Amino acid sequence: MSTNPPQQKRARILNASPKSIVEAARKIHESGLIGLPTETVYGLAGNVFNEAAVARIFSTKERPTFDPLIVHVSPGLVGEMKLASLAELELVDLATLSPLARERAEALMKAFWPGPLTLVLPKNVKVPDLATSGMPTVGIRMPRHPVAQALIDASRTPLAAPSANRFGKISPTEACHVDQELGDRIEIILDGGPCSVGIESSVVAINPTGELTLLRPGGVSQAELERVSGAQVHSPQAQNAQAFAAPGMLESHYAPSKPMTLLSKAIADMSTEELKNEMALGLSSEMGVLLLAGNAANTQMRLAALSQHPVKVLSLSETGSIEEAAHNLFASLRKLDHSEAKIIFSEPCTSVTGLGHGIADRLRRAAARRS
Ligand code: TXA
Ligand code: MG
Repeated sequence: MSTNPPQQKRARILNASPKSIVEAARKIHESGLIGLPTETVYGLAGNVFNEAAVARIFSTKERPTFDPLIVHVSPGLVGEMKLASLAELELVDLATLSPLARERAEALMKAFWPGPLTLVLPKNVKVPDLATSGMPTVGIRMPRHPVAQALIDASRTPLAAPSANRFGKISPTEACHVDQELGDRIEIILDGGPCSVGIESSVVAINPTGELTLLRPGGVSQAELERVSGAQVHSPQAQNAQAFAAPGMLESHYAPSKPMTLLSKAIADMSTEELKNEMALGLSSEMGVLLLAGNAANTQMRLAALSQHPVKVLSLSETGSIEEAAHNLFASLRKLDHSEAKIIFSEPCTSVTGLGHGIADRLRRAAARRS
């Protein structure tokens, strides 16, 4: 008699059609999980009010239960863009929020939803504690991607969805990335094409008095948040970092399996001596190099002249567009991680405006040493 475990079938990658949406919604109702496209990154979605589904999200991702999930809603589910609508959906508890906090939250909802902004608000008792890791707050966002909206509408329930990667790994921005990460653990991945934004949502906490804290920089810039809310948006470091310890903010995250080093400045600004110093380890083996901007071929030639080994250079945006760089970031990191390279170097992102803040944050964490 064979002692082999039963073969787990690989996920089916389905083109998002009305038929596949109905099938996916049925899975959601059976406590199943779906690989779901959003405009930021792909998510691993399950019914937030179903504890079995929420528990499966953590185990499928190998995610520690101290890292809270984001809940996704749709325009169809929410109706009027008001906090009262979120209370009606039994997601938030408005009792402790001051009028100023409500005003600011609604201004942000109206300006940036649907879109890459997660609001952290006091949680309703109906949201399982497991989903929020026992925190008294819940992160909520309304994705802009039509396939995400269609699945939420068809499921008729808000969906908890973290990024669809194994914990700490590179986030997926295409359906095939979800398959690489979790294809042996889930049944359906809806294919909605490459994610347009490419990095995760900005996560903003609103406390009862209306103070705003940017817990994770992402698809909406700090300047835009401040303009719309009329308030200063604090960074967690400036306040009590402990109070905001959220594991998505763990130092090492979004990490390739190969060692990755962040260079001190753009390669074009480095002398040959500086290059040799900073890239010494890479020049003695195969290496992968990520440029923030500019032409990959020129850098490839310059580095090839210094190394006996293959060098693979990818540029996030030939023209220097920060939006294009964000869009390509995770897919390019994944390509280098799957290449022959033994070590990866990346230029730093020095722009702190717009999406630059989020890109700099992801690169720093991808390069952080794991202990
Ligand atoms: O763009 C996104 O936000 C993607 C797509 C799928 O929507 N989702 C995503 O989820 O990035 P995830 O789980 O990979 O990252 C969410 C992070 C958590 O790690 C956590 O740090 C923070 O958001 N978060 C969620 N709920 C929170 C809460 N109640 N308080 C503080 N931080 C929270
Ligand atoms: Mg994630």
